[in-house]
Amino acid sequence: MITPLGGTLLNRVLDDGAAAELKAAANDLPAITVSPAEVWDLKLIAIGGYSPLPGFLNEQDYASVIERGRLTDGTPWTVPITLSVADKDGVKDGAKHALKDEAGNLLGSIQVQQVFARRFEHEAKGVFQTDDEAHPGVARIKGAGQWLVAGEVSVLPDALPADEQGMEYRPAAIRAEIEKRGWNNVVAFQTRNPIHRAHEHLIRVAMETADGLLIHPLVGETKAGDIPADVRTECYRTLIDKYFPADRVILAALPAPMRYAGPKEAIHHALMRRNYGANQFIVGRDHAGVGDYYGTYDAQKIFETYEDLGIKNLNFEHSFWCKGVGGYATQKTSPFGPEQRVFVSGTRLREMLGNGEHPPVEVVRPEIADILIAYYKTL
Ligand code: ADX
Repeated sequence: MITPLGGTLLNRVLDDGAAAELKAAANDLPAITVSPAEVWDLKLIAIGGYSPLPGFLNEQDYASVIERGRLTDGTPWTVPITLSVADKDGVKDGAKHALKDEAGNLLGSIQVQQVFARRFEHEAKGVFQTDDEAHPGVARIKGAGQWLVAGEVSVLPDALPADEQGMEYRPAAIRAEIEKRGWNNVVAFQTRNPIHRAHEHLIRVAMETADGLLIHPLVGETKAGDIPADVRTECYRTLIDKYFPADRVILAALPAPMRYAGPKEAIHHALMRRNYGANQFIVGRDHAGVGDYYGTYDAQKIFETYEDLGIKNLNFEHSFWCKGVGGYATQKTSPFGPEQRVFVSGTRLREMLGNGEHPPVEVVRPEIADILIAYYKTL
């Protein structure tokens, strides 16, 4: 199986003895509150999803990630993983601090290496290619604290849920499942949406040459207007149960927040999937994009400058139902023009589902439409 990035799957979860010690000592430690958005990152560090990161980035790595899409040692890494605070008073270099969530629950600890200033504009332009605060990823870092706390973390086992939306989410468990199934060639599919017919086309094509498929929906924070993870999970289960061979698919959760960083996030998505045991990663049109900040295939092009990623991108052109062909196709495989395409815009799709109407079956399966219609009724 493919090795994790850096060679070893990190585990920053305390054992029971160390957890008891931390709980006993926590009241005497200075505390840092971790925002809900950053709790996702903390958990991913804990379970090794962000291997080789043992904690939150220091200033050198932060600058290196932004400027050249790599850690200072050259390891590919494109999205800064940072812990922010509004005020640096009360955070001491070299000291151990308790990490708490907003409700005051103890999550773990951080051995603070340094506190440094976020370079908002630099980070925004380097990662998102824009400092426009209408971009949800830019807004997220703008709204966060402007001081960044670097250091290795340790996380309490009880700060981690048993599952995410009823799905397994720990890389070690997914790797064990891949091993059990005897898969050598594993393709991962990132999604933050219900799986529509175009998505299905990509994953079916990819499955033809792989031993198995990891359907790996992101379940962390997404932007307003995206379908919530629990509703999507119902869609995934319904689809997989009826339309996919169970022995060739693993459905698991990626507990990461969405950043909408387009190409930079495509690399980030791929690296995490390597840690989960996949050696191929699907990249379609406008992967992890939002609005029109990125070119349709920018997220595919960036992989050309990352030959040392270890995980291979599987690129797909924009796919559509082509009436002329009588099936899913792309510009590469259909001789027909755009007038032969069944196309429903995202806005129109939401409108139809909101009105209780089924979109064309070539775009959304009726079983999935039913789940989404029921969800829109609750809004
Ligand atoms: S994303 O933010 O996670 O990229 P989404 O869940 O919609 O959004 O997409 C999942 C994957 O499917 C991405 O790789 C995306 O590029 C790809 N994709 C979505 N729709 C299409 C399509 N019609 N044709 C080709 N690729 C697509």
